[in-house]
Amino acid sequence: MFKTIEWTDDGVRMIDQLKLPTQEVYVTCRTYEEVAEAIRSMLIRGAPAIGVAAAMGVALGVKNSGARTIPELRADFDKIADTISQTRPTAVNLFWAVKRMREVCEGLLTVARGGTCPDDIGSPPGAPMNRGATEAEKIAVAKARLIEEAQRILAEDIAINEAMGRHGATLMPDSGTVLTHCNAGALATGGYGTALGVIRAAVSAGKKIDVFADETRPFLQGARLTAWELAKDGIPVTLITDNMAGHFMKLGQIKAVIVGADRIAANGDVANKIGTYSIAVLAKENQIPFYVAAPLSTIDMSLTSGEQIPIEERSPAEVTHWAGVPTAPENIAARHPAFDVTPHRYVTAIITERGIAREPYTESLKALSA
Ligand code: MRU
Repeated sequence: MFKTIEWTDDGVRMIDQLKLPTQEVYVTCRTYEEVAEAIRSMLIRGAPAIGVAAAMGVALGVKNSGARTIPELRADFDKIADTISQTRPTAVNLFWAVKRMREVCEGLLTVARGGTCPDDIGSPPGAPMNRGATEAEKIAVAKARLIEEAQRILAEDIAINEAMGRHGATLMPDSGTVLTHCNAGALATGGYGTALGVIRAAVSAGKKIDVFADETRPFLQGARLTAWELAKDGIPVTLITDNMAGHFMKLGQIKAVIVGADRIAANGDVANKIGTYSIAVLAKENQIPFYVAAPLSTIDMSLTSGEQIPIEERSPAEVTHWAGVPTAPENIAARHPAFDVTPHRYVTAIITERGIAREPYTESLKALSA
């Protein structure tokens, strides 16, 4: 199996999702700016994977920092975090991961100013700062701890996906076709996947499921990535264009829909890849359950509704061109909102690592997030 992203001594290594499915190549980002560019260009994409990349980008930037004093390190951290935070606006996992890294850093730097002491500065945890620790030693500890934290975020993400798989598999039909949109698989996460993780777990449990993958215009995550990773895994997959979904639903050939999410508001409104809303409406019209699988880090309890979720607008060139080749008249106006918001009334259930949330989401998500 491939690794979507990993920490190495040389930097942050990622599978290049812009080259899939024709080439399986890996790139190593050696600076935080390269990690930021990998997120922006969608060399790595998918909300949880973006979160892991953001954490590793922060760790890499801090590791490479030449700061000699705590205030210099803090200033470097802010610069790195700002650069990474300005890459993609919708997936809240990115901001969640940067915040988590900031909390670890701040905790350590506060210690370094004379608070309580982590065990590896030389005194027992909770003891006053070892007065013997030099500024350089404290900075070295902060660097090591941030690298550890980024790796922990990756390991946790895989475990969370497996837990979601266990919960979500119970909702999958015993047999038949499940429709998915975009890529919410191992490629979109640290590994295993959210929506595809649920499908993987259901298949492992003996359910005879096959998958219809929407191609997912304009970036083709379904065609290029979902089809690739499911085929690699031996899970039967059939590629359809986005505008075929309603046709197959009406024919009674789709038993359930399952997608991932980039941000979920406290009321259960779901931002996910553009086109998700249309599928959810079609599913309701055809009495087909519409499930969302997402870790709790994707739930933004600070937003009361999906209307507050910032929607990334990407370059129209991604609509008018494919791989640099025009697919539309020159200079035609085009729009490219990368995500849409599905109102919670279309969502049958939200699968998280702590269990399954249903309406009223304001209460069920709050209970799961507590
Ligand atoms: O623009 P992308 O490819 O980053 O969008 C990805 C999606 O919309 C996924 O469905 C979502 O991030 C969930 S991934 C587990």
